[in-house]
Amino acid sequence: VTAAFSVLALAACGNGSDSSGSTAGGGGGGADMRLALNQTEEHPSFIALDNFGQKLSEDTEDRYSIEVYPNEELGAQAEALQYVGDGSVDLAIVSGTQLENLNADFAAFNMPGAFDSVEHQMEVIHDEEIVGDLYTSLEESNNVTILGGFTQGTRSIYSDKEIRTPEDMAGMKVRVQESPLHIGMIEAMGGSATPMAFGEVYTALQSGVLDGAENNEVSYFTQKHFEVAPVYSRTNHLVGLDYLIINTDVLESMSEEDRQAFLDGWTAAHQEHTQLWAEATDQAIADAEAGGATFVDVDAEAFAEAIAPLQEEFLTTDSQKALFDAARAAAK
Ligand code: GCU
Repeated sequence: VTAAFSVLALAACGNGSDSSGSTAGGGGGGADMRLALNQTEEHPSFIALDNFGQKLSEDTEDRYSIEVYPNEELGAQAEALQYVGDGSVDLAIVSGTQLENLNADFAAFNMPGAFDSVEHQMEVIHDEEIVGDLYTSLEESNNVTILGGFTQGTRSIYSDKEIRTPEDMAGMKVRVQESPLHIGMIEAMGGSATPMAFGEVYTALQSGVLDGAENNEVSYFTQKHFEVAPVYSRTNHLVGLDYLIINTDVLESMSEEDRQAFLDGWTAAHQEHTQLWAEATDQAIADAEAGGATFVDVDAEAFAEAIAPLQEEFLTTDSQKALFDAARAAAK
């Protein structure tokens, strides 16, 4: 989907009564909400969100519904974040890397080493005491509220050659998400970082604009990146994090009862996502292998050493350090 098409598509469907901002004004008036996602319909995020939408319709007797638009149909994450702020889209899944650009505190959870596992991550990022202020921090500036998140699983490097050590990444152009921290991360790991939107990565790998990328096994398979970068080298450098965001006015316009149904539905959705994740990862590995991909181990110690300085370099404020420390304190 090209940027131009996305804008047209938005213009075509964003100005009617199906845009919730205009219909929900009476407080509990209800709305058909649109949710922007950059994953395919096979991805656990789509499945959990789609179920969330169906349950919400039932629980609110159709006062609220959620239509999930996959594959960047409503725009890549940077655009989706803007659209949620201006109310032309109600909800979106965006990576923590996007939010880091609006509030540097989010970098604490985008930092390699913040989370030991998916379970640890989910516990921290749904702990109101840790994240309460963080999740409301964009309301005044951007009209965006954060509701919680989905894991991105463990991310590793892939390309057309085996990577064993940071030296193997010398001269390699590796796609990263649009985040200063993750640019620094790839450079620390020995490569040369190219920030880029998710949906452009396949073509860039195919054409040689990129030599590699980094992601979890599920996206590696569902985005078909394994076709153009068949060696997945398990650097395991990061447990990544996605957030569900909502237009703050839309959230506040819900009646107490509908808002409770919405929040309960979301809790069930991220729990379902966590349950689906491990199996989806195993399945993605098997499917990518069947498609010709290989998965190799790396010199884990060499990479751990390479990325160790990132904490000091990128977590410089008290609030960043407090969030990172809170995450570490919750590790078992
Ligand atoms: C993961 C994550 C996405 C993110 C993507 C990326 O797939 O779930 O939210 O956009 O990585 O690397 O851009």
